[in-house]
Amino acid sequence: MTRNFPEGFVWGVAAASYQIEGGATEGGRGPSIWDTFSHTPGKVVGGDTGDVACDHYHRWESDLDLMAELGFQNYRLSIAWPRVMADGKTLNKEGLDFYDRLVDGMLARGINPLATLYHWDLPQALDQGGSYGWLDRTVADHFAEFARVVGERLGDRLSAVTTLNEPWCSAYLGYGSGEHAPGLTDNSLCYPVAHHLNLAHGKAVQALRSVLPATTGVSVTLNIHQLEAASDSAEDLAATQHLDLVANRIWLDPMLKGGYPAELLETTSHLTDWSFIKDGDEADIHQPIDFLGVNYYNPQRIAAPTPGQVTFPGTDKAASIGYGPEVETTIMGWPIVPSGLTDLLVRLHNDYGVPLQVTENGISSEELLDPQAVADAAADDSTVAVHDTQRVNYLRDHLGALLDAIDKGVDVNGYYAWSVMDNFEWAWGYAKRFGIIHVDFPTQSRHPKDSAFFYSDVIKANALAV
Ligand code: FCB
Repeated sequence: MTRNFPEGFVWGVAAASYQIEGGATEGGRGPSIWDTFSHTPGKVVGGDTGDVACDHYHRWESDLDLMAELGFQNYRLSIAWPRVMADGKTLNKEGLDFYDRLVDGMLARGINPLATLYHWDLPQALDQGGSYGWLDRTVADHFAEFARVVGERLGDRLSAVTTLNEPWCSAYLGYGSGEHAPGLTDNSLCYPVAHHLNLAHGKAVQALRSVLPATTGVSVTLNIHQLEAASDSAEDLAATQHLDLVANRIWLDPMLKGGYPAELLETTSHLTDWSFIKDGDEADIHQPIDFLGVNYYNPQRIAAPTPGQVTFPGTDKAASIGYGPEVETTIMGWPIVPSGLTDLLVRLHNDYGVPLQVTENGISSEELLDPQAVADAAADDSTVAVHDTQRVNYLRDHLGALLDAIDKGVDVNGYYAWSVMDNFEWAWGYAKRFGIIHVDFPTQSRHPKDSAFFYSDVIKANALAV
C-alpha cells in the first residue's frame, strides 16, 4: 500500500553552520562560543572541534551537487553569525558573500534555502568580560540587527528565515547543565537567558518583516518535549506539568499567545523573580510567524525526582526516567517512539493553531563503513554501500506518524531529515553520526547511505510505501 503526501509538501534535509562548515578562521570569521567551548579540554568527546568539520566551507559546490542528484528539494542551512559579523556587530562582507554564493548555488540546482539565523554559534565577542552571552539582554538587539542585515541581502532568495533553533538547548544545556557552550551550571540562569532568547526572536521577526519580501516566510524552530508522566501518581503528573511549563510553554506561550503563563512564574519562583521582563517585552516577543518548526527525536517519561536523582536541566522538580527494555533505542540511548511525533503535532495544532513543519528528525547510528572500502572505492563512490537499516526504518515510521497527524487534521506541510551528512554532533563531537550521507572525515569523501536513497525515493513519489 502507498500513502500519499499532500501536493506541495516541502521535502528537505538539514544541517547547521558550526556542525559542517569548518573554515573556522577563514574569510574573516570570528570565533563563536562553540569554538571556545570545543577547544576547552573535557567539553567535547575526543577533544573534537568544528575547525574542519565536513569542510563544507570549501566543498559546498560538490555537496550541493550531491543533494540535487538525490532529489533533495529544500535545504535547511544555518548562517553563522560570527562569519557575517566577526564581533557580532560589524558586517564582514566576505562572510555574507559566502552565503550569497551558497544560496545562489542552491537555487541554480533547484534547491530552496530555509535559513536559520541562530543555530548556537554566538559570536564570542558578545560573551566577554563576564557578560556571558545571552544573560545580557542587549544581545537580543544585536541579533535583530544581524537578522536585518541577512534578510536585506538574501531575503529575496530564501523560502523562509528561521530566527532560532532550539532555544531550549541554548538556555538549559548552555547555562543549566553546562553540556553546551558557554557551559555554565546554574539553573537560575536559564530563565533570564530564555527570556532574552524570546526577545531576540521577537525583535528579529520585526526586523525581518521590515526588509523581507512578503513571499519569504518567517519561522522559529523549537524542540518541544513530548512528555509522558511515568505513572498516574499526583507527584509524577505534577512533575510532568511543571516540566511542560519550564521546557515547552516558556517558548510557545510568549511567542504564540502573547505572554508567559502565570503558572510558569509560580513554579520557578524559588529560582528566579522574573524581574528581567520589562514593560513591552511580551508584546515584542508576540509576533506573527508563518510556521512553527518542530524538531522531534523521541519522547520523555517524566517522574518526580527521588533524592539524589539527576533532574532535568533547569529544574529540580522533574526527572526523565527513560523507557523499559521493550522500547528499542538508538545508539544515543534515545527511545524510538514514532507515535510521539503524531501526538506532539496534534497537541501543537490544537493548542496553538499554527501551521507546522518538522524541521529535524533522524537518528545516530554506528560507523558502518569499512575504511578499506572507502579507499578502494575512491574512483567510484557509488560502489560503497552503507546499510543503515535502523535509520531507514526510523524515517519510514516517522513519516508514517506525520501522515497520521495529517489524517487527524493537523496542518503540517514539511519535513527535513536531520542530517544531510554526518557532522560535528556538539558535545559528542564526531562520535555520533546522524547523516543520511556518510562522511569519511580523514578523506572527506561522501557516500549516501541506504537511508538517503530511501528518502530520495519517497520524495520522488511524494508517497510512502508501507
Ligand atoms: C538537535 C540539534 C541539531 C543536532 C540534532 C541531533 O538538538 O538542533 O543540531 O545536533 O539535535
